[in-house]
Order: sequence, then C-alpha cells, then structure tokens
Amino acid sequence: MGLNTRIEAAISKAVAVGRGDVVTPPKLASALEYATAPGGARIRPTILMSVAIACGDNKPEISDAAAAALELIHCASLVHDDLPCFDNADVRRGKPSVHRAYSKPLAILTGDSLIVLAFEVLARQSSLAPDRVAQLILTLAQRTGMPGGICAGQGWESEDEIDLSAYHQAKTGALFIAATQMGALAAGQEAEPWLELGARIGEAFQVADDLRDALYDVETLGKPTGQDDLHGRPNAVTELGVQGAISRLKDILGGAIASIPSCAGEAQLAEMVRMYAERLTPVVAPTGVPGE
Ligand code: IPE
Ligand code: IPE
Ligand code: MG
Ligand code: MG
Repeated sequence: MGLNTRIEAAISKAVAVGRGDVVTPPKLASALEYATAPGGARIRPTILMSVAIACGDNKPEISDAAAAALELIHCASLVHDDLPCFDNADVRRGKPSVHRAYSKPLAILTGDSLIVLAFEVLARQSSLAPDRVAQLILTLAQRTGMPGGICAGQGWESEDEIDLSAYHQAKTGALFIAATQMGALAAGQEAEPWLELGARIGEAFQVADDLRDALYDVETLGKPTGQDDLHGRPNAVTELGVQGAISRLKDILGGAIASIPSCAGEAQLAEMVRMYAERLTPVVAPTGVPGE
C-alpha cells in the first residue's frame, strides 16, 4: 500500500469511529466527513509516517492511529480558524468552509468533535503498546493546547502586541514538531532527538505559507489569499521581500536536512524533505510574479 493510500485509510477509519454506529445527529456526522475529506496536502501525517517508517514502523497500527489523530487536530484547527470570529473565511480546500456549508454551531461542534476524536483514536490503541500511546497522547496534547500548542498560536491574534516567533512556533511549528516526534514515538523511539527537524520544517512551512499568501490567488490556493496584508499580520514577505523569503526558505530546509537524527531511513527522509522543499517553494519571476 502506498503511503498516501495508507494515510487516507487511517483517516477514514478514524472518522468512521466518530460517525459511529448508533443514532447520531446526521448533519454533524456528515460535517465530520466534510471537514476531513477530501483533505489538503496531508503534509503532517506524511511527515509522521515517514519518520515512523525511518524508525522501523514496528507497530503499524499505532503509526496509523497517530497519523490520523494528528490530521484530525489539524482539520479541527482549520474549521475553527475559518469561523467569522477568527478569519471569517468562506473557502477552504477549494470548497465552502464548514460554517458556510453547514452552520456556525455545527462548525464549532465539528471542530470540538474532531479534537476529542483524535485523542480517542489514540486511546483505542492502548492495549497494543500502553507506553507509546501515553506518550503520543501527551505529545499531541502539548502541541494542541496551551501553553505551546495551536490554541496558544491562535491566542496571540487576540493580543495587542504579537511575539512573532512565539506566534509562529505555536500556530504552525507545533504540529510539525508533533509530526516528527509522534512518528518516532509510534515506532518506539525517543521523541527528543526529533524536535529540531519538526521545528525547522515548521519554520520553513510558515515562510512558504507567507509566500503563497502574498503571491497566489484564491483559485490556485483553494482558500482566501492576501490575508496577512488584510489583517496587518507581520510575515516573511513584508520582512524580507519575495526573493529574500525564498532564500530564507532554502536556508531553513538545508538546516532541516542536516538535523535528521541518524536512523535506518535517514537517506529516504532527507529525500522527502527535499521533495517537499521543491513543492513548497513558489516558482517566481524576479519581479515577484508567480511563474508557471
Ligand atoms: C494550513 O495548513 C494552515 C497553516 C498552518 C498555515 P496546510 O497548508 O497544511 O493545509 P491543508 O491541510 O493542505 O489544507
Ligand atoms: C491556520 O492558520 C490555522 C491554524 C494553524 C490554527 P492561518 O489562518 O494562518 O492559515 P490559513 O491561511 O487559514 O490556512
Ligand atoms: Mg488564522
Ligand atoms: Mg486562516
């Protein structure tokens, strides 16, 4: 089974748990599906699974649950992020955002349900490897809530003064650190050596996201663009210019590759980071206009 197929199967299985086999409110059950499929780039579960495979992947059911749990948290964060009280975005992944397709109450409940489901999906594997599951739950919780997870990241947007580095680390970096560390934990390895790789990929991803926000249009990206300018948010493009941001991105990714801990699948992992680097870097003419 290819990696993408494996990830999609793990996510569908997790969502099926949430939809349940009892009588449930049909709209909310359908919104869980809507918010998670078809997905976006699935970059976080792909990184998680790639690290797990590089570390031996000796309990594949745990890796599957971890990858699905992480993506459910990410999808939940997007559903809440699009709500009118946050970014008020009408489009996500090329279709109406959940509150536009369903309703605001259902979008709040969809996000809530997906967050809880993520932890349930992990907890359901506890008989297989209790220590691993406990560490996975702890790591995912720490990267989701306060003080250093995506809740903290989103919380910075309600402050008059934003600590840009803390904001980006919590909003974007946290789930990439969760990705590399949970990959290692799922395969029974220590999490700590994998922190730097996750942090660097997260930092690169944020710069790439700033570039896409500045350079692309809603049709290309499938979500509103120009948001950083609109909300007056500091970002890598205003700070460094387009070419400056692109060289920054390349520097960070070089550091990411150098930070990969030694393991059986080190070379394949480096290859994966290179592949993502290419995919994330917008092709731009020197004037800063997106190319083909
Ligand atoms: C978007 O993440 C949210 C950010 C943290 C910038 P992605 O770009 O990974 O979104 P999807 O999952 O591919 O839609
Ligand atoms: C995305 O942040 C959501 C979270 C990380 C919680 P943004 O608002 O910056 O990303 P997009 O542009 O909506 O995907
Ligand atoms: Mg936002
Ligand atoms: Mg947003």
